Amino acid sequence: MVQPWQDFIDETLISSEALQTRIQELAQQISSDYAGRELLIVCILRGGVMFTTDLIRKISVPLAVEFMAVASYGAGARRSEGEVRITLDLNTSIAGKHVLIVEDIIDSGHTLASVVELLNTRDPASLYICTLLDKYERREVEVPIRYTGFRIENKFVFGYGLDMDDYYRNLPFIGTVNLKKYVPPAG
Ligand code: PRP
Repeated sequence: MVQPWQDFIDETLISSEALQTRIQELAQQISSDYAGRELLIVCILRGGVMFTTDLIRKISVPLAVEFMAVASYGAGARRSEGEVRITLDLNTSIAGKHVLIVEDIIDSGHTLASVVELLNTRDPASLYICTLLDKYERREVEVPIRYTGFRIENKFVFGYGLDMDDYYRNLPFIGTVNLKKYVPPAG
């Protein structure tokens, strides 16, 4: 049995309405910054999916979407070890393209630092990062972020793409976890 989120939520950190309002602002800024150009959005799986799909619906410049998967947290661990692995690479060349990486959260920074380093070797015309959440206190490696949805404190968060043991990504809001009440799913 997967525990109902109502049993372990501490508080709603960012409501669905606040998320959508901020995403609209980000999309407007991005559309203005990239006016007259075409964008290649690179969504980082899996957490970045919800944010990417809402964000791209609100961007007005022509864009294509690609997906990358990066393993950063070991199974069961809740802390990035500074080692990342590309588990799904892009399908197309990014040479000469304006690339915008879209991510749900930047924590230690190791995941995005590695992705940026790799993609920069492929000669994009430009390469920037858009993250919904910035857990800035946890940074171990500097990553240049161009667009940030919300800067948040160092708390466990879930919902809107962010999981707890693979569940709860589908929730339309972001909540904080009361770890004393959270019970991981069996198996
Ligand atoms: C999360 C998040 C980032 C990364 C950030 O992904 O989506 O990719 O961790 O952490 P860092 O800044 O410390 O590297 P996770 O590995 O949990 O995978 P998921 O998106 O599939 O849940």
